[in-house]
Amino acid sequence: MEVTNRVIGYRRENADPPYLHPDYVATRTRSPKQPLVPLAHTLSEVTGPVYGDRPVGELDHDLTRQHEGEPVGERIILHGRVLDGDGRPVSNTLIEIWQANAAGRYRHARELHPAPLDANFDGGGRCLTDGEGRYRFITIKPGAYPWGNHPNAWRAAHIHISLFGPAFVTRLVTQMYFPGDPLFFQDPIFHSVRDPRDRERMIARFDLGETVPEWALAYEFDVVLRGREATPVET
Ligand SMILES: [Fe+2]
Repeated sequence: MEVTNRVIGYRRENADPPYLHPDYVATRTRSPKQPLVPLAHTLSEVTGPVYGDRPVGELDHDLTRQHEGEPVGERIILHGRVLDGDGRPVSNTLIEIWQANAAGRYRHARELHPAPLDANFDGGGRCLTDGEGRYRFITIKPGAYPWGNHPNAWRAAHIHISLFGPAFVTRLVTQMYFPGDPLFFQDPIFHSVRDPRDRERMIARFDLGETVPEWALAYEFDVVLRGREATPVET
């Protein structure tokens, strides 16, 4: 067998929003002013990485059990699968989430929204996918929050999601939304993903089958890393 140094790169086509989306005001100053220069993927990009510096804890996936008491708000189950661009499950991969509490407030030093903090809710969680690429979180449905982008601007309720996948080039940071949110129409971050079909892939599906009676509604959200069906990036 011939051994070569050729590195097989990942697909580049995707539905990511443009760096400059003027309605999303922050992109006016942070977007590149010059066209990007495509570089071939290198070995260190298509291999590695992986987790953080701490092992994933037994309760890291349950944002309602990280303190003495239970957080206030609507308990929900968020579950789904992580798949690659060919529809194969990505097993044993890290998935991390962070979000506002039920009142729409983040636990963050620069948070300005005058809504109450919840002593029993930090808003961060993580877990590993199983052998079939499945993940599952227990959390609280986040509230909408104002963000000053334009007059009376409110973000549609969302949960931030970060994955590495099997290589650095499969890294994905995105946001998951809830079906039927009344704020979609005025959220320029949501609309920075231009194709409505791509936006649909950022909205979770209400899942009655996984809803636990007398306990919590469930939402299903699959994440696709790299490839035509890839979940769009949203930061
Ligand atoms: Fe957010």
